[in-house]
Amino acid sequence: MASRLAGKHAAIIGATGSIGSSIAKAFAQQGAVLSLLGRTALDAQRTLGPQLTPYQPSAGDSSKAPTEHRFIKLDVTSSADLKRLFSSRKATDDAVGAVDILVNCAGITQTTILKRTHDEDVEKVMDTNLTSAILACKYAQMNDKGCILNVSSLMATRPAVGAAVYTAAKAGMIGLTSALSLELAPRSVRVNALLPGWVESPMWNSMYAFFSFPWSSEFKSSIPWFAAHLS
Ligand SMILES: NC(=O)c1ccc[n+]([C@@H]2O[C@H](COP(=O)([O-])OP(=O)(O)OC[C@H]3O[C@@H](n4cnc5c(N)ncnc54)[C@H](OP(=O)(O)O)[C@@H]3O)[C@@H](O)[C@H]2O)c1
Repeated sequence: MASRLAGKHAAIIGATGSIGSSIAKAFAQQGAVLSLLGRTALDAQRTLGPQLTPYQPSAGDSSKAPTEHRFIKLDVTSSADLKRLFSSRKATDDAVGAVDILVNCAGITQTTILKRTHDEDVEKVMDTNLTSAILACKYAQMNDKGCILNVSSLMATRPAVGAAVYTAAKAGMIGLTSALSLELAPRSVRVNALLPGWVESPMWNSMYAFFSFPWSSEFKSSIPWFAAHLS
């Protein structure tokens, strides 16, 4: 079977995480050349790099596309860095270049009820989970007939106690996706949101203890537990 993504350049923001690295492995297996971004991208180059199917450029590939998988350090809370990395169509050491596929998968969680969530944490959760994706979509040099995948969450539609900001950000990803799909339709760029349920990962581990408590059906009887854990 022909590789479905042969010759495609995919930029994966959050490629160093559990879901992002799985996406990266699948894309590389299907023939894509990858730009893998995250704060720990340089560490991931040693661990994830050897697990990626090497890219095989073919004669018809654009000269502007990278010729091998690249790991690029990026903190998505820096709008200046997003702009610097994504604003040019030519792939260089300091630029992602034009992309066929953009995946917005960076995310952090929240495990505090809103009243107890510090303002700085509200800002950090929104910046990491939503604003970064808005800016990446804004600055990314999408090729025509490309595709954007925004990783939202099932929690966007089925929220839980202790994740109001995370839920708002993930619901925002759905709004961003819907609106952008209209704006980019004339260029045949598809924009879709993924809403994963629970997937085991460092993020999942940090949330599990909190959310495994049966909040919804037994909320009233949980008040003593609630008080004990949040006071
Ligand atoms: N696990 C689940 O059950 C689940 C369910 C629904 C949706 N999701 C969503 O799926 C996505 C991936 O989550 P995961 O479960 O794979 O968690 P994970 O393994 O903890 O991965 C989180 C990713 O986000 C990146 N990231 C966090 N802050 C960043 C920052 N400031 N700048 C750049 N990258 C940053 C991390 O990269 P660095 O540490 O290298 O910066 C990492 O690649 C998230 O958007 C999450 O909300 C997860």
